[in-house]
Amino acid sequence: MRIDKMLANIGYGSRKEVKQLLKSGAVKVDDVVVKDAKQHVDTAKQTVTLNGEVVEYKEFIYLMMNKPQGVLSATEDNSCETVIDLLEMEDQVYEPFPVGRLDKDTEGLLLITNDGQLAHRLLSPKKHVPKTYFAVIDREVTEADVAAFSRGVTLDDGYETKPGDLKILKSGVRSDIELTITEGKFHQVKRMFEAVGKSVVYLQRISMGPLPLDETLELGEYRELTDEEVELLRNYQVK
Ligand code: URA
Repeated sequence: MRIDKMLANIGYGSRKEVKQLLKSGAVKVDDVVVKDAKQHVDTAKQTVTLNGEVVEYKEFIYLMMNKPQGVLSATEDNSCETVIDLLEMEDQVYEPFPVGRLDKDTEGLLLITNDGQLAHRLLSPKKHVPKTYFAVIDREVTEADVAAFSRGVTLDDGYETKPGDLKILKSGVRSDIELTITEGKFHQVKRMFEAVGKSVVYLQRISMGPLPLDETLELGEYRELTDEEVELLRNYQVK
């Protein structure tokens, strides 16, 4: 890859600005100053430094965020803070986007990447990637609800959902549940409970496919996925 393209891709300015940077002698490849913007670098084998600091190049970025309430799962919005606004500049330069949406008032696991292919595979309705949610429900959740969810319920617009795996963790005037679904219709969990006459008062996504939420992440915090986690996602096949 051309050195100017590499530096511009990872946010060191426009191709023109990067050219100036190169001219100034600040960039070295394997300890040799490079001033020619057209010079090619092998990003896997050569070390590029800028003012002595190693420049790390990667094409894709994969982040796991513990999304807080009050923030939109979008790349930009005129009035509301988005999950991308919560990222450091050094991560924003990769132009990542959230993999699917969580509602503004939903917390928990959100993947953020610039790998369109992987995102598409995780979101494709054909792949049936399971997503598990923890929720607090305003009423008693019963075995009848478990049975109804296991058959699929009819949403307010007439849509028949695929079966959902509902587990009652605590039942009472308010109930704690876990629900695993393989679809991602708009407000799906909330609407599934509305279909059985109940309301979700708190919603948190706790896993997506093979990835559980990293519970060491505080709300609003995020981290890069490990290479192993990225491989898990890439190779993930629903049985
Ligand atoms: N289902 C919902 O109702 N909301 C979400 O944010 C995710 C799933």
